[in-house]
Amino acid sequence: MPTAALDLKDAILQLKKERNAVILAHNYQTGDIQDLADYVGDSLGLAYRAQEADADVIAFCGVHFMAETAKIVNPTKTVVLPDKDAGCSLEESCPGPELEAFLKEHAEKNYYVIAYINCSAHVKALSDVICTSGNAVRIVEKAPADRPILFVPDANLGAWVMEQTGRKMDLWQGSCYVHVEFTRDSINAIKKDHPDALVVAHPECTQAVRLLADEVCSTEKMIAFCQNAPVKDIIVVTESGMLHRLRKEAPDKNLIAGPTDRCACADCRFMKMNTLEKLHDCLEKLEPEVTLPEEMRQAAEKPLLRMLEQSR
Ligand code: 13P
Ligand code: SF4
Repeated sequence: MPTAALDLKDAILQLKKERNAVILAHNYQTGDIQDLADYVGDSLGLAYRAQEADADVIAFCGVHFMAETAKIVNPTKTVVLPDKDAGCSLEESCPGPELEAFLKEHAEKNYYVIAYINCSAHVKALSDVICTSGNAVRIVEKAPADRPILFVPDANLGAWVMEQTGRKMDLWQGSCYVHVEFTRDSINAIKKDHPDALVVAHPECTQAVRLLADEVCSTEKMIAFCQNAPVKDIIVVTESGMLHRLRKEAPDKNLIAGPTDRCACADCRFMKMNTLEKLHDCLEKLEPEVTLPEEMRQAAEKPLLRMLEQSR
């Protein structure tokens, strides 16, 4: 490893100590960031870790809505995000003012609004409860039976939850630009070369792809699925960062990600905006800092706490 990279890692660890910081990283971050983090996980695990954090600073290596969630559930901490532009296409697909107008227009429906955590604080504040891919089935099962559900913003995750629970929901038509790029044909082509392989896919994939999968689950659940799978070959249908952790934690498995080592798909350009250099700089300068108006934070905290309680 070049000395410069080693120096940078040492400098980050030194700053982490000086700032009394904790580094949280999502499973889609680059391997070098994951290896430096105190905790690596999915959106649900990260929300719990952020809530429990007793460090002064949370350096959140993920995308903006995840860092914002950390600030909402642990408001006295300084939350920094290496790149302030690390957004999410799902968040973009459901602007708060649009949802607000929709709910006003359909006020007679008295919707129970379930928001996938991949959304802004404004959307969370308009919701009754939040869910992640790891607990969506459970959260929908606990929804009041006498109210119609509006599920925002991911139509694919929503459709998968409907299939799992049998509960009808109205779906906001948002999507993850990474996961909708996977096609049946590309996965079938990989399967041709690996006929015994099992397929694990994220629920943000389209139904056509999910139907090919042996398991559909959150990024965290993919770890146990791969570790316990009775076969060696597993086709992993999600963002490429997942492979780093899977290869570390399921080393005896052949994790197949397509011919380009990118799951036959592109990286999430938002997740990949964070780098070791930017992590170093945000710990040094304590910016970009994630902040939000207190009134909005409190309104967004309620449905998040409901989710955390319902998932324990
Ligand atoms: P997980 O919560 O399953 O890690 O998913 C987060 C995400 O952004 C998937 O694209
Ligand atoms: Fe958002 Fe998709 Fe990137 Fe996840 S992979 S952060 S859902 S754009």
